[in-house]
Amino acid sequence: MKPLSLALVGAGRLATSIGLALHAKGQPPRVVASRSTRSANVLAQRINAAACTLEQAVAAADLVLLTVPDDAIECVAAELPWRPGQAVVHCSGATEVDALAAAADKGALVGAFHPLQIFSDPERGAVMMEGSSVTIEADEPLLGQLVGLARVLGLRPLHLPMGARAAYHGAANYAASFLLSMLDEAIQVWEAVGLPREEALQALLPLARGTLSAAQTKGLAGALSGAVSRGDAGVVRRHLQALDALGGEHGSFYRELSRRQLELARAAGRLDDEALERLRALLT
Ligand SMILES: NC(=O)c1ccc[n+]([C@@H]2O[C@H](COP(=O)([O-])OP(=O)(O)OC[C@H]3O[C@@H](n4cnc5c(N)ncnc54)[C@H](OP(=O)(O)O)[C@@H]3O)[C@@H](O)[C@H]2O)c1
Repeated sequence: MKPLSLALVGAGRLATSIGLALHAKGQPPRVVASRSTRSANVLAQRINAAACTLEQAVAAADLVLLTVPDDAIECVAAELPWRPGQAVVHCSGATEVDALAAAADKGALVGAFHPLQIFSDPERGAVMMEGSSVTIEADEPLLGQLVGLARVLGLRPLHLPMGARAAYHGAANYAASFLLSMLDEAIQVWEAVGLPREEALQALLPLARGTLSAAQTKGLAGALSGAVSRGDAGVVRRHLQALDALGGEHGSFYRELSRRQLELARAAGRLDDEALERLRALLT
């Protein structure tokens, strides 16, 4: 791929991760702009790019990545002097591409490029980019350009159909912050029965890693373990009694997730219909 004529607009966490990753590949963005000159300068210096104003960034680049907060995307797109044929792409998972309508009205090609990773630590984010996926919503010829950018970054491109962003982004939470909610639930229960909160996370993380690693090699059904996967109705009953006794939503949360495991248990082929029905009756 020839060197990118790329601008990063919004020098925050995602821009820093993308900038560092591209710099490491020897293809740094040409320019960086941001709301504050300071943020633009800091990032530009780190990645051997030029810092400039938003207008200069738009003039200098063929492909502009808007790495601003979601709420600023529409406003930034409306204010800048786009030219026909130039590409403008936001990096949000939830915001529709329509937010770039003002740029499209000026003849720009518009799309979205959403890396499926967490960039709260930009240095780590730059490294984690390799092997992560990116969902791309764009038509040709922009689609080809963004697939090329993904390949340079080591991201696996995933083509997202139009109009699906809210459901897609909502569901992605299950592999991200909802994992934290699960760990939080486990820690709350452990604490309620007397285990020290400070040690709980360290004890649970290796278990979580082992489960994810099994999912990577064996798939979801193949990785399933625990009482539901064995059809162990007596253990499930004791779990429910103990969790219901703690009050709150502990029992209902466990029931909901366990019911969702029944289909995986069926897919794993380890339980017959009778065992599945016995568990379903307990969990309903
Ligand atoms: N962080 C993640 O894990 C992640 C993952 C995937 C996708 N995304 C998406 O990436 C985008 C950026 O997120 P982020 O986490 O990188 O945000 P962030 O760290 O808050 O950075 C946003 C940057 O945009 C700049 N900015 C704000 N308003 C602006 C405006 N009107 N004009 C120009 N620059 C402006 C900020 O400015 P100053 O510093 O100059 O004040 C800041 O540097 C969002 O759409 C988000 O959904 C984020």
